[in-house]
Amino acid sequence: MGTFEAKTQTLRDGRDVVIRHLTPTDALAFVASHQVVVRETQFTMQRPESPDTVERAEKRFAHYAADPQSVFLGLFAEGELAGMAEFHPEWAGHPWVRHLREFGTTVQSAYWGSGAAALLMAALFDEASRQGVLRIQGHVRANNVRGLAFYTRLGFVVEGTRRMAAIIDDVALDEHTIAAFLPRST
Ligand SMILES: CC(C)(COP(=O)(O)OP(=O)(O)OC[C@H]1O[C@@H](n2cnc3c(N)ncnc32)[C@H](O)[C@@H]1OP(=O)(O)O)[C@@H](O)C(=O)NCCC(=O)NCCS
Repeated sequence: MGTFEAKTQTLRDGRDVVIRHLTPTDALAFVASHQVVVRETQFTMQRPESPDTVERAEKRFAHYAADPQSVFLGLFAEGELAGMAEFHPEWAGHPWVRHLREFGTTVQSAYWGSGAAALLMAALFDEASRQGVLRIQGHVRANNVRGLAFYTRLGFVVEGTRRMAAIIDDVALDEHTIAAFLPRST
């Protein structure tokens, strides 16, 4: 885990939220929150029929905590986990790609448009910059218009498209690879 320090931030409507590392003790809250998200959207690879378990979440957070190249941030609003953003190395320890991280973000729909996702991404970029990351990459389904608008606003560019990256309810869906670039620190 990076050394990201907990931050209190403010949503567009003036409500205070806290962004901090998730730890194994957050596993229960994470699973509950993630169940909300996966019922609201099919834009992640998680499915309501096969929910993440508390045990798996505990293991994942313990892994992130032990890895100085990863970070798993949660955004807490009124004490509830409302969103998360994480990054991790694509090839842990490989010297040729130590500048690169793979990321993901999800926010509960009650917080879409609130600024919560932008705060999470700003925190993710802060930590990336601190770690000397130069490239953050992710994947967005081509029909995720909201997600694409959001990431483009943050400076991500579409680099390419994987055709038929998923088939959901018999509909073939493409997926864009997106990337954003951070300046080298001097
Ligand atoms: C992707 C996600 C994190 C973005 O957070 P958010 O709070 O919804 O993002 P914002 O509201 O700040 O930005 C969304 C943008 O899409 C725009 N938008 C929404 N619907 C749109 C549409 N149908 N067509 C075009 N633009 C649209 C909004 O106007 C907004 O842009 P603006 O702020 O410049 O006006 C969030 O929607 C989410 O968690 N979605 C479900 C999971 C997901 O898709 N995760 C990403 C997988 S890669």
